[in-house]
Amino acid sequence: MEVYKNYINGQWIDHSKEQIDVINPATGEKVGHVPRHGKTEATITVEHAHQALKTWKFMNAKQRSAYLYQWHTLIKRDAEQLARTMTLEQGKPIQEALAEIHYANSYVLWYAEEAKRLYGQTIPASVDDKKLIVQYEAVGVVAAITPWNFPAAMITRKVAPALAAGCTVLLKPSELTPLTALKLVELADEAGIPKGVINVLTGTSREIVKVWTDDARVRKLTFTGSTAVGKTLMRDIAQTVKKVSLELGGHAPFIIFDDAQLEKAVEGVVQSKFRNAGQTCICTNRVYVQHTIAEKFTNLLRERIEQLKVGNGLESDTEVGPLINQSAIDWMQHQLEDALEKGAQLVTGGKTMQREGFYYAPTLLIHTDDTMSCMTEETFGPIIPVATFETMDEVVEKANDSIYGLAAYVYTQNLSQAITISDRLEYGIVGLNDSQPSTAQAPFGGFKESGMGREGGKEGLMEYVETKYISLQY
Ligand code: SIN
Repeated sequence: MEVYKNYINGQWIDHSKEQIDVINPATGEKVGHVPRHGKTEATITVEHAHQALKTWKFMNAKQRSAYLYQWHTLIKRDAEQLARTMTLEQGKPIQEALAEIHYANSYVLWYAEEAKRLYGQTIPASVDDKKLIVQYEAVGVVAAITPWNFPAAMITRKVAPALAAGCTVLLKPSELTPLTALKLVELADEAGIPKGVINVLTGTSREIVKVWTDDARVRKLTFTGSTAVGKTLMRDIAQTVKKVSLELGGHAPFIIFDDAQLEKAVEGVVQSKFRNAGQTCICTNRVYVQHTIAEKFTNLLRERIEQLKVGNGLESDTEVGPLINQSAIDWMQHQLEDALEKGAQLVTGGKTMQREGFYYAPTLLIHTDDTMSCMTEETFGPIIPVATFETMDEVVEKANDSIYGLAAYVYTQNLSQAITISDRLEYGIVGLNDSQPSTAQAPFGGFKESGMGREGGKEGLMEYVETKYISLQY
């Protein structure tokens, strides 16, 4: 069993009176425990991060970049071990966990590179004796709050750009999956990242995060999680006017026109929906298929879904792992019953599995409509509701009729249709014949209540800087 401390100012500490158990969702067994820290430790971390900022911020970019390169090398070295820890605490299949470690590490590499390219600018002055200079500098101490669905990637795509820009970090990983986070930070320590630059606390979220949101020395909050919590955090930081990035919920439509390559569209839905057992903010939440191909599409999708191997993520042939806990199972059951009561038809799945752990069968529903919870509220699990449409206008209206605007997918071979619909969709990410759009060099984030700010790409670095304009008279 893994027993971990917290990392504050370069020291591993445990001041807690209580521990938090970490449970393997595939078996219900305890796999580790971490300290339950609170207000006192949260305050101490701010002091250390604030102190460390004084040197980290003014270190030259090449040096900061070298630390990130070294962190990247060590994550690569320990990728398999990190993946195993992730599968044990989060449940995703081991190959998928390994893919997430590499994906997470691609952000460390990208920002090791970008650290050296935080270019400013000079602006032509309107008088003879002035130079106008714009430079970007670290915003300061950053509080990063990360979720359980991607225990590594959600950390590196916040921490790596923050460090690259010259910020210091306070990190609170989800109490459901803290072990991967603590192992990543162990490697950051081995990489020689100076003390106080990264600090990690596990514990009572309410207490820790409240200290960080209230403290004026913390200048930026970055959060991935639910829209409801994101709204509360926005209210909390208003008091000290911090910069903020929020990566919140999603309800991705997956639109298939009748000229699409149908086998590719089916595979796209499966890849997008069952990645991480559907517990992904950008995963397909509702499918709209053009009515002329609906029956053929549904038959192909049912066949493909029934081939999926559900099981413990440590078994090498598992394609879909368990859900995170019992409440996730209860929510699947709620969405299923609600849809069936309102007239949907169950094609396959729709049940829990007869084994220890939190398993739910991949599920396909047809004849769904927007009165049903699964068509409007985030599912975060392996249910696919399918509805039909006739025209582009109709499907665009349905797709955009959501409080969310994170990712949308469109399958068509008609180029002008593809471009027209991409322009009309109110979403931060559009996958055109592509169900896997995420990558370190592209900006990830949503419109509307899916959040604000972007992670990844050059935009991801700008989230951690302030703009300074220097007017020089000579
Ligand atoms: C998420 O949607 O929760 C993150 C997934 C990704 O980065 O692709």
